[in-house]
Amino acid sequence: MFAIVLVGGFGTRLRPLTEHAPKQMLPVCGIPMIEWVIGHLADHGVQKVGLAMGYRPDAFVDAYPDGRIAEIPYQVAVENEPLGTAGAVRFAVEHFQTEETFLVLNGDVLTDLDIGSLVRFHHDRGAAATIALQPVDDPSSFGVVTTNRDGQVKEFIEKPEQSFAPSNNINAGTYVLEPSVIEQIPAGRQVSIERETFPKLAAEGALFASPSSTYWLDTGTPQQFIQANLDVLKGKRNKRPPLPIANFHQSSIITESVIGTGSTVGVDATIERSVLLNGCQIGSKSTVVDSVLSDEVRVGEGARLESCVIGFGQRIEPGEILIGERRPDQDSI
Ligand code: GDD
Ligand code: MG
Repeated sequence: MFAIVLVGGFGTRLRPLTEHAPKQMLPVCGIPMIEWVIGHLADHGVQKVGLAMGYRPDAFVDAYPDGRIAEIPYQVAVENEPLGTAGAVRFAVEHFQTEETFLVLNGDVLTDLDIGSLVRFHHDRGAAATIALQPVDDPSSFGVVTTNRDGQVKEFIEKPEQSFAPSNNINAGTYVLEPSVIEQIPAGRQVSIERETFPKLAAEGALFASPSSTYWLDTGTPQQFIQANLDVLKGKRNKRPPLPIANFHQSSIITESVIGTGSTVGVDATIERSVLLNGCQIGSKSTVVDSVLSDEVRVGEGARLESCVIGFGQRIEPGEILIGERRPDQDSI
């Protein structure tokens, strides 16, 4: 089966981590998110993927020059300007000349969803499009879906006010689509699959949705990105790769954190619920909590960072206290 992975978003909520790389190239326990996403597809029999992208396409092509990601051959469809989630699907289908039932994935979702059973559900109902659903506590930042007993979608409401959300089942960002759906997507302008295409298909009775309650996480925010790393660390996923190799002083206290290759953590330093990418240097007696540090960040002695996102190559002065700050990459100041 063929899968289109949407990777064209700007990753705004993860800035500055996404200043130089699309969010799908950020590592989750040392492995770029795109490899988690495509590796999962490979485990479920997908044989080829198309990356629908616009923002920084070179980042993927440079990282995977042999044309394979997680051993699956990939091709790219590069939009000249962002076409929105449906516009990007239309563009990719035309570009790849897709003529059979295919998958579409939001490229920032990590899940252990059983794709084979989603595809069977889709065919059993003769659907034009089928969405995987996930139950969440707060549906307000997602696409909210209601269905009848057979799974036919009654309503699809993208990001409703919480008080208006008619269900806790949300669009999990994995779709099975028939090529005929493309005719429903206007050409030549931005089109959102969530705001236009799905509500229209639902009104026609052609949209179905299948509930699941497997591991699922959207990694769009810094806290979710930390969560994605911790979930792998704690064995909540089907796979647990070897952890990156960092250097910790024996007096340092590191809890619920992932620390990238070549990073060093000094005497009596504390790191809690944080992700440090590669080559970071954490000075003695400093504290990093609920934060993400990009590559090669240096934290001076006795500094304290809480709920921060720190860009590539930044220097945090000794004794500095930062709470809830985002610092851009060193070279973009
Ligand atoms: N190629 C391309 N072009 N990709 C795009 C574009 C575009 O114009 N716009 C967004 N994308 C990609 C993003 O890179 C991401 O992988 C995916 O489409 C979804 O965009 P997000 O910006 O991450 O959307 P969201 O997280 O706010 O909401 C979406 O995901 C939720 C589940 O995680 C929606 O699909 C919701 O309905 C859903 O519940
Ligand atoms: Mg998202």
